[in-house]
Amino acid sequence: MDSMEVNKGIAAILVAGILFFLTGLIGDALVRERLPEKPALSIAAAPAASGAGAQPAALPPIAPLLASADPAAGEAIAKKVCVACHTFTKGGKAGVGPNLYGVVGAPHGHMEGFNYTAGLKAKQGPWTYEELNEWLRKPNSFVPGTRMAFAGINSDKQRADVIDWLRTLSDNPEPLPSPDQAPAAAPAPAAAPAPAAPAAPKP
Ligand code: HEC
Repeated sequence: MDSMEVNKGIAAILVAGILFFLTGLIGDALVRERLPEKPALSIAAAPAASGAGAQPAALPPIAPLLASADPAAGEAIAKKVCVACHTFTKGGKAGVGPNLYGVVGAPHGHMEGFNYTAGLKAKQGPWTYEELNEWLRKPNSFVPGTRMAFAGINSDKQRADVIDWLRTLSDNPEPLPSPDQAPAAAPAPAAAPAPAAPAAPKP
């Protein structure tokens, strides 16, 4: 008799447990179904990437974004997020990451004596705006295995703001790219001909 009651009690607890578990599963399933909606937005916004389906590399060109970027907003983001690992002043010490003064247009791995990963050092040529855009979107996909343990900045606008501010960290800031410049322009040698120069009203 008594053990019957006990069994019933155990059964009730088991059933409650199973229900709890199932509710969890259902909840998970519901939440998971919502997720794909967001990526769908950015895919739709990207101009038809010819066939290269799986790659999320279809970043909008950075030049037009830079033309309307807000370096002050970029500074605020950098001093909130990047400052955990980076310094920005001229001659600043390395932290977890290298000092970032003058990085725009400098060679990859630009800080003397910093122990960069081989993947980053293997990148050829100077840091271009396009590359910084890719890097800050997802460091680990631009340089697989990088030690920059940072997920990336999803917002195109915020990345442009940050890059626009990084550009000011220089004795001689790189000119902004012309907004209608073709995004795929090969890493051009910095010798841009004169006509582009007056179009840089930025500080
Ligand atoms: C968790 C620490 C961490 C955070 C946060 C971080 N970085 Fe880094 N960063 C690193 C490390 C480490 C490296 C060196 C990577 C390597 O060697 O692969 C690096 C490298 C870089 C480089 C390349 C420097 C060079 O000399 O080539 C740039 C540019 C950069 N970071 C920008 C940023 C910006 C902008 C942010 C904020 C949006 C940021 N990082 C946030 C750790 C970090």
